[in-house]
Amino acid sequence: MTFPRKVNLYEVGPRDGLQNEKEIIPIGVKVNLINKLINCNIKEIEIGSFVSPKWVPQMADSEIIIDKINKPETTSFPVLTPNLKGVQKAIEKKADTVCVFVTASETFSKKNTNCTVSESLKRVEEIISEVKKHNIKVRGYLSCVLGCPYEGKVSYESTADLASFLIEQGCYQVSLGDTIGCGTPFDAIKLFELVSKNVNIENIAAHFHDTYGQALSNIYAVLQMGVQTLDTSIAGLGGCPYAKGATGNVATEDVLYMLNGIGIKTGIKLKDIIKVSWYISNYMKRLPNSKVARAYVN
Ligand code: HMG
Ligand code: MG
Repeated sequence: MTFPRKVNLYEVGPRDGLQNEKEIIPIGVKVNLINKLINCNIKEIEIGSFVSPKWVPQMADSEIIIDKINKPETTSFPVLTPNLKGVQKAIEKKADTVCVFVTASETFSKKNTNCTVSESLKRVEEIISEVKKHNIKVRGYLSCVLGCPYEGKVSYESTADLASFLIEQGCYQVSLGDTIGCGTPFDAIKLFELVSKNVNIENIAAHFHDTYGQALSNIYAVLQMGVQTLDTSIAGLGGCPYAKGATGNVATEDVLYMLNGIGIKTGIKLKDIIKVSWYISNYMKRLPNSKVARAYVN
C-alpha cells in the first residue's frame, strides 16, 4: 500500500457546510469560524459563494465576509462562482481563487444552476477567460460523480470527459464530488481511475459527503491512488440545497484523525481543529457531526 506523505485539507465548511443551514448564521460567527480555521494552519478555505441570494440566501453575505476575515498571504480563500456576475464580484473583492461547478447530470445541472450541461460549459469558458485577465486561480468542481438525486447513476465516462475539459480550460484542480454521499470505495476507485487516465492524480481532489457513512472508506481508497487533496468540512457541516437528502461533508477532524493514524502529514493539529468544531457546533446548539470531536470532549 502506498499513501502520499503529505495531504492538503481543503476546508469547505464555511461554504458547502453553511450553505444548507436554514437559519442565517450571523456574519460575526462566520468570520470567527474562518479566522479560527486559519489559525489551525489550514491553507485553503472556501469562504462562501457569489451565487444568486434568491437561490442560496445563506451565502448572501459572502461579499462582506471576504472583507472582514484575516487574510494571511500563505492561505488561499476560494469563492464559488456560477456565472460572470459572480466572477465580477470575485474580481471586485480581490478573491485569489474562484470555483466553477458543473455536473454530467442534466437534471442536477438544471436544478442547481438553471441551465443545461452544455450551457454550464459555456459559462465556465466565459468565467475562465475573464479571471485569466486578473491573475485569479480557478478550481473546478464536478458534482454527482457517484450518483445523482434525480437521475441515479451518472456516466463515469461523461464525468471523466468533463474533468479533462475543466483542466484543459485552465482549472488547476478538479474536485470530484460525491454530492449525495452514496458512493462506495470500489465505485470511487473505478471513477478515479478513469478520470486519472487524462488528468494527473495530483490535480484531482476528493470531495466526499458522508450521507451513507462511506466517506472515510472512500478517502482511504483514493489516497492509495495518490490523491493529495481532500475536501473536508469542520464538524461535518454540509449538504447541497439542490440535492435533497444530502447530509454533511466528511468532517475535517475525522479525516485528520485517520490521516494521523496512517502517518500522513497535514500541518494541522487535531486538538486545534476539535476546538473549532465545538465552537461552531455550540453556536448551532447541536453536537458536531463528527465522531472524533464527540469522543474528545465526552
Ligand atoms: P437564474 O435564476 O437562472 O439567474 O439562476 P438569472 O441570471 O436569471 O438571475 C436571477 C436573479 O439572480 C437576478 O436578480 C440576478 O441579478 C441574480 P434579480 O434581477 O431577479 O433581482 N443573480 C445573481 N446575484 C448574485 N450573484 C450572482 C448572480 N447571478 C444571478 N452570481 C444561477 C442561475 C446560476 C444564478 C443560480 O442558479 C444560482 O445562483 N445557483 C447556485 C446554486 C448553488 O450555489 N448551489 C450550491 C453549490 S454547488 C454544490 O454545493 C456542490 C459542490 O459542493 C460539490 C459537490 O458536493 O458535488 C460544489
Ligand atoms: Mg459538496
